[in-house]
Amino acid sequence: MAEEFRIVKRQLLRKALPSSPDLIPNGNLLMVTSTQPGEGKTFCSINLALSIASERDLTVMLVDADVARPQLLSALDIEADKGLIDVLVDDRLDVADCLLRTNIDNLTVLPAGRPHPGATELLSSEKMTALLKEMARRYHDRIVIFDSSPVLASSAPGVLAARMGQIMFVVEADRTRETQVMEALSLISDCRNISLLLNKSRFMGGKVRFGSYYEYYRS
Ligand SMILES: Nc1ncnc2c1ncn2[C@@H]1O[C@H](COP(=O)(O)OP(=O)(O)O)[C@@H](O)[C@H]1O
Ligand SMILES: [Mg+2]
Repeated sequence: MAEEFRIVKRQLLRKALPSSPDLIPNGNLLMVTSTQPGEGKTFCSINLALSIASERDLTVMLVDADVARPQLLSALDIEADKGLIDVLVDDRLDVADCLLRTNIDNLTVLPAGRPHPGATELLSSEKMTALLKEMARRYHDRIVIFDSSPVLASSAPGVLAARMGQIMFVVEADRTRETQVMEALSLISDCRNISLLLNKSRFMGGKVRFGSYYEYYRS
């Protein structure tokens, strides 16, 4: 698993590191999404974040952007009362006030925050756009990973897609249907750098597993 995420990470970092010749605008803003719940967005977000945090000179901010069904904190066994939504609602609150340190030096976590009936609208707001701009600029040596909601179950990923440098789209082996993948990809097509990750593949045969990750190019 660690080796596979190392390979995934290398591809994504190519477009995210200030020193890379392949750097793209907002390349350090990376959303993880999929078609439906349960396909492995949170699992892959955490593993990718841990893999990137193991690089000595990189820092990672892992954001719980699945505001309707936040899972990140329980998956990491931590608790917090404020987060992203509170920053969007309360002008006096800054991202830095909500960031949680972890026992891994260069990994911080931004919780989703308090449940809010207009959470999706808040993620689509001008304030969120400004926040993302600030994140990309202020933390340009930092990779910001957004553990997002499923594309076919909420409108937030479609809205966020335009503001992300990259998207890692999780496809569950033997479960996610191709038609759903195509439909979901069309809804997030405002982002030009979408990579697909085949998750929960049971095929263990040698090198082929490493080939499970490939890039999706818009035609
Ligand atoms: N590659 C994997 N190997 C083992 N378990 C996985 C893998 N990907 C996901 N899971 C498990 O599947 C369940 C759903 O994954 P999760 O990341 O919570 O999905 P999502 O965030 O897309 O709703 C969780 O119990 C998670 O631990
Ligand atoms: Mg999740």
